[in-house]
Amino acid sequence: MSPTSRPARVLPLLGLAFFALASAGAKCGQQPPQLGVELVENGGFETGDLSGWTVTGSCEVHDAGSPWASPPVGSYFLYGGDDFDASTCTASQEILLPNQGFRANYLAATPLVVDASAYLRDFSGPLDYDDQAFLKLRYLDAQGVELSSIRTLIGDDASWSQEFAAGLLPVDTWKIRVEVESRFRAGADNDAMADEISAVIDTVTPQLPAQTKPPILQDFRQDAMTVIWETNGNLERPAIEWGPAGSALPNEVTQVETTEVTPSHYVHKAVITGLTAETDYDYRVRMGSQTYATYGFRTAPLATSPFRMTWTSDNQNGPTTFGSIVGLMAARDPDLYFNPGDIVQNGDVLSEWGSYWWTPLSTADFGQTTPTLFARGNHDGEHAFSYAYSALPENESFYSFRYGNTFIVVLDTEASVGSTSPEQDQEAYLVAALSSPEAQAAEFRIVTFHKPPYTNLWDATNFFFCLFGGSGYTGEGSLRTAWVPLFELYDVDLVVSGHTHSYQHAQQNGVHYVLVGGAGGALDTFCGGDFPFFDFTVDSHGYSVMDVNGTSLTWTAYDENDNPLHGFAIAH
Ligand SMILES: [Fe+2]
Ligand SMILES: [Fe+2]
Repeated sequence: MSPTSRPARVLPLLGLAFFALASAGAKCGQQPPQLGVELVENGGFETGDLSGWTVTGSCEVHDAGSPWASPPVGSYFLYGGDDFDASTCTASQEILLPNQGFRANYLAATPLVVDASAYLRDFSGPLDYDDQAFLKLRYLDAQGVELSSIRTLIGDDASWSQEFAAGLLPVDTWKIRVEVESRFRAGADNDAMADEISAVIDTVTPQLPAQTKPPILQDFRQDAMTVIWETNGNLERPAIEWGPAGSALPNEVTQVETTEVTPSHYVHKAVITGLTAETDYDYRVRMGSQTYATYGFRTAPLATSPFRMTWTSDNQNGPTTFGSIVGLMAARDPDLYFNPGDIVQNGDVLSEWGSYWWTPLSTADFGQTTPTLFARGNHDGEHAFSYAYSALPENESFYSFRYGNTFIVVLDTEASVGSTSPEQDQEAYLVAALSSPEAQAAEFRIVTFHKPPYTNLWDATNFFFCLFGGSGYTGEGSLRTAWVPLFELYDVDLVVSGHTHSYQHAQQNGVHYVLVGGAGGALDTFCGGDFPFFDFTVDSHGYSVMDVNGTSLTWTAYDENDNPLHGFAIAH
């Protein structure tokens, strides 16, 4: 694709100024800096093969005869892999800047912007758990060390969308690794697809963006912390400054991954590493020379220490209630907050990630000071925004971790259940996680996910429909078959779900089941009790506090006015 066919979004080509700058950076006989020139070789795969690309995994080039898609431009496109040997694949190429006329003195003296784009798609609609393709550009120094990166959204729809990634080039960049990642997640084929990969460098005047979402913490570790924030531009260099609590923040993290959501929404993710367990630190965001508010956090507890978690889910379109509940949780000073899903109402509505999630979560600086994790719910869905605005472990859908003396497995009820493909087989993952030495040595084992295996009947339609035998919901039958026997086999103590907008507790075959879906979404209409092993159901907003201390786990549920609703204890 010629550069002129690409929308000039960050900076128009510079005309005469371009030639003046280009010639100023070139010595006699040397190539001038390749400003405004397409730097990706065979970005449209129009050679009909992967010429110019280094490939790992199952990537293929398809033409218009492909059964899966037609190319959006030209005659060919990149396909993740079919023929039942699909795997995650990466197609990459490195742009060595000196070879493009960008010599060290020019790079040091000239602010440059990289403007990249790709057409992306998958095979299913945006609500389906499917393979994911995205474009990522890693900035590497002369030693090959990654300085930072920019990336596009994932292509989440069954039609092509052009996604973008633009930003100020870091000082000391020597080469840029252009990567198309086609992440295999579901089905027999890897049907994440890409085409028209483009990257152009141009001169730019740095512009200080505004911070549009303050940092939130998303982590569970003793030695690291993940920070996510948003700005409305990417023409300054993002960083996190940090240090021991009360210090002058002597350290910095400049290796930041930035996702361009829109040209006015850039999500930055940084990981602070080298931390000590159960220790207080301070940090703040820096963009260019502009610093923002300082917050504190504590790293995850030692294996033998008591800890506190809070739980509540399904805040979705109830930000006022959720903000109030977040304030109550903040007053309880937990070490970790877990939300089992439906953190927005419509995962594809960009504004909800601010107004329904980020803003209420920031009540009393809770999200800025308390690490938060979540399980994906049906309302968060598989939308690209749901991945852009989170930094979850492992495959970002199902994951597990040790926290204090407790082992926690997080599953994704939007991914398939009862499947046999290794990448999507949550049963195999659950067995491996729960039978691991780390899990079996833990004092408590907890599994959490959005949709429950059991719930007392609710009917979202209305009370009268309910009375006359409406099509109420009693939980996920497939989970009772596939997962519940594993909970019992591997001595899971506690299963925490959401989806039902209420608080419920049950106990069956030694496993406690709790539903914590009262964070703010409209409460469900109940048709009455169904399962005899449920001992408490209340149609109430609220949250729960879980204290683990040695061989004792104590659970207390509160309503939205902080009145205790229910409690139980597990003692080993
Ligand atoms: Fe919900
Ligand atoms: Fe739900």
